[in-house]
Amino acid sequence: MTLATTLVRDIAIERPGATAVFRRHKIDFCCNGGVPLAEAAARRGVELDALEDELVRLQPVQAAAPTDVHALIDHVLERYHEVHRAEFPEAIRLARRVEAVHRDKPDCPHGLADHLTFVFGDLDGHQRKEEQVLFPMMRQGGSPMIGFPIARMMAEHEEVGEQLERLAELTTDFVPPPGACTTWRALYQACRKIDEDLREHMHLENNILFPQFA
Ligand SMILES: [Fe+2]
Ligand SMILES: [Fe+2]
Repeated sequence: MTLATTLVRDIAIERPGATAVFRRHKIDFCCNGGVPLAEAAARRGVELDALEDELVRLQPVQAAAPTDVHALIDHVLERYHEVHRAEFPEAIRLARRVEAVHRDKPDCPHGLADHLTFVFGDLDGHQRKEEQVLFPMMRQGGSPMIGFPIARMMAEHEEVGEQLERLAELTTDFVPPPGACTTWRALYQACRKIDEDLREHMHLENNILFPQFA
């Protein structure tokens, strides 16, 4: 099997660093990662040969996330759940400030603070369900009913994927306008980080943690 015919999701799992390449080309490796690389590249108008080249040249630099269920859940909680809870409120504060100070500028991201607030509210409920129901079930070795909460979480991940599309739209793909002030730049950087972390987070759950209980 060549890279071109390998599923994007599998490349993201097996090749450390591939997720960064996919993000750069706006190829969704999480919820829509079940398509061959060639198809995903064509959809995004990315040149396949160059993309394959980038993926082949990747060195295994970052340590892969643990695959043991307990260690992986600990990693998800610490590296993602807690980090989102710390970073969203700050991004919302920055957005409120930028929208107030720059409300008359044509590039002002009107509605960004409200969108971030909405995403954070949804995410908080989602994470609580994982923390209080699904993860404890997994730590006990699973349950005959576990398919239901897993399916529910995966459906919610798809909604997060849509919310992230909207986040990218509101921030012109996280690129501040020329001459933007520091707060505006920091805001878009914070949004970019939120986008990256959420995609990695959902990828670990969808493609590495949940399949162990399928
Ligand atoms: Fe999670
Ligand atoms: Fe999740």
